Amino acid sequence: MKRFLQALVLLAALGLGLFWVMTAPVPVPQADFKVADANLENGKLLFNAGGCISCHAAPDARDVPSGGTPLKTPIGTLYPPNLTPDEETGLGRWQFYQFQAAMQKGLSPDGSNLIPAFPYGSYRSMKLQDVADLWGYLRSLPPVKNAVPPHEVVGLGLVRRGLTFWKMLALQDGLWVPDATQSAAWNRGAYLVNGPGHCQECHTPRTLFMALDGARAFRGGPHPEGKGTVPSLHGLVERQRYKDAADLVLAFQNGEAYGYEHMSSGGMGEVQSNLSKLPEDDLKAIAEYLLSLK
Ligand code: HEC
Ligand code: HEC
Repeated sequence: MKRFLQALVLLAALGLGLFWVMTAPVPVPQADFKVADANLENGKLLFNAGGCISCHAAPDARDVPSGGTPLKTPIGTLYPPNLTPDEETGLGRWQFYQFQAAMQKGLSPDGSNLIPAFPYGSYRSMKLQDVADLWGYLRSLPPVKNAVPPHEVVGLGLVRRGLTFWKMLALQDGLWVPDATQSAAWNRGAYLVNGPGHCQECHTPRTLFMALDGARAFRGGPHPEGKGTVPSLHGLVERQRYKDAADLVLAFQNGEAYGYEHMSSGGMGEVQSNLSKLPEDDLKAIAEYLLSLK
């Protein structure tokens, strides 16, 4: 019995040691990357398509991404950080490669894991040039001094380490790639929806490991932030939710104001307001892609 207990303690210690070593943060390596000629207009488009303001808005200025508005999640209350180029409280001292690591690998500059409430599982499908343009746009904003409160999450350090394993399970695949058999517009729509738009983060149910369940993509399900349920995006025309693509575009542009009442609650109101700022061609592309989900 004593031997057995000794072995058990040894195994647990080994396991703990292994966990500690495997999840140790390694600072994001410096990359020699120049953000030459960022296209600020495209950057702004991606800022809207990516819905950054939905989470990163200041509590008292809903159009300034200086952070600090509480975001309630099942693991606790998060305070999305300040994205303006303020040196002390924002991203002023960040380099592009650090922003890229956050967007595409969910890594902080010090190498620790970012909480996937920040939807990097989708953002990692963004084109590098789009990430660079978005960075250029963020750099062009006026710096705002706003120190956001720390997250209210029990055992946050351990959660960040544990996310190493979540990433291994949840981010194995699911990277969006173009489909050469489809039209350019369909591919543009698919890119906006699955990359920056991160529509699946709410509209696709999750597996036991909280990974997006690819087999049930866009089928709807429980809301990730616990706000009721999210509808399926399949068969929007067949189920007579919308007459056609043009009708869906009008819904994205005007939402509730035009009597489209299924785009207001559970965070969709913010998504619709962000989408309404996109060029009409992009909204048509999104509609074409969504309506191909029969
Ligand atoms: C659904 C909410 C949500 C959306 C949408 C969102 N973020 Fe975030 N973001 C967060 C949260 C929460 C964190 C904090 C994560 C953490 O501390 O681990 C965060 C962290 C970040 C960080 C790391 C900053 C730091 O100081 O560590 C960057 C960079 C970032 N977000 C950029 C963006 C950009 C750019 C967009 C739009 C393309 C965006 N986010 C959209 C919630 C969101
Ligand atoms: C924060 C979670 C969230 C995100 C992200 C999100 N949605 Fe939604 N969506 C919802 C919810 C919740 C509803 C239902 C809202 C209501 O009934 O008022 C909804 C409704 C919709 C509807 C209406 C469905 C119907 O039956 O009429 C469409 C279309 C839609 N979303 C498209 C999108 C697209 C496109 C994106 C990405 C650009 C997206 N959603 C991103 C949560 C989300």
